[in-house]
Amino acid sequence: MLLEEVAALFRDCRRIVDGTVGGGGHAARLAAAGARILGLDRDPAAVAAARAALGAAAEVREGDFADAAAAADVRAFRPDGVLLDLGVSSPQLDDPARGFSFRRGTPLDMRMAGAGGGPSAAQWLAAAGERELAEAFRSGGDERRARALARAIVRRRATGPLATSDDLVGAIRAVLGPRSGPDDFARIFQAVRIAVNDELGRLARALPALLEVAEPGAVLAVIAYHSGEDRVVKRTMRDWASACVCPPAQPVCTCRGRPLGALLTRRAVRPSAAEAEANPRARSARLRAFRKLA
Ligand SMILES: C[S@@+](CC[C@H](N)C(=O)[O-])C[C@H]1O[C@@H](n2cnc3c(N)ncnc32)[C@H](O)[C@@H]1O
Repeated sequence: MLLEEVAALFRDCRRIVDGTVGGGGHAARLAAAGARILGLDRDPAAVAAARAALGAAAEVREGDFADAAAAADVRAFRPDGVLLDLGVSSPQLDDPARGFSFRRGTPLDMRMAGAGGGPSAAQWLAAAGERELAEAFRSGGDERRARALARAIVRRRATGPLATSDDLVGAIRAVLGPRSGPDDFARIFQAVRIAVNDELGRLARALPALLEVAEPGAVLAVIAYHSGEDRVVKRTMRDWASACVCPPAQPVCTCRGRPLGALLTRRAVRPSAAEAEANPRARSARLRAFRKLA
């Protein structure tokens, strides 16, 4: 997604960490332009796919971008480019066993890192408190009836677990009404996925650590697919680009007092009409980039 726009941002970079290597699409494009690539992905299936697709063009290993900055191989690589293309990949969405989609009869799993990756969506839906559920539906799914849906899930799970996509779709329908449809299911399933994988927490932790590990002058670029994650990226990069981040009412500056670099994208870059037409998933993509002070 946004392949040429990403390639243009990284055109001067020689050592790029692709923190979400997925099927290796971006990595292949960047490697073809002459960069060395260290690719990471939480999902062992994605790592296997990227290795098969990229061969010798990239080094690929299993890993979480939230932990990448502390890893010895990433530090030794001295990246002058870091790419995060957030969220789920098409192969993850298309594999019914992974439980990311609301297709009928799908187990509620949604763990990005597979079976070893902490509680599944079914386990999270069984254990989360009503407030946690409501907050997740609001922040990850922009759901206006988040509290009612959380209440309904708590009531419903008292009679039996929500184990499959049908159970969750039934709970959504019961609250949003019979006219609710695929867009509503997609939003709520996305919210559950974001919560199960702590996607916003991982992103917020990763960004400052990745900026720190990147070389002076490095480019950091992030593609977000949801307003919640794009907000984290936008605020973080704006903060990095500001000379002063003290509260406005504070009379004397006590913060770092200088920007950490400059925004490379004043506004989020969106896919072209042709790309959005060809790939419906691309429509929500927003690319933002930052250059660390040289
Ligand atoms: C949109 S896909 C990336 C597609 C890739 N850019 C390509 O061109 O094929 C997102 C990928 O990020 C991975 N991912 C999500 N969160 C992650 C995290 N915290 N650390 C590492 N990988 C993550 C997912 O497993 C998925 O494979």
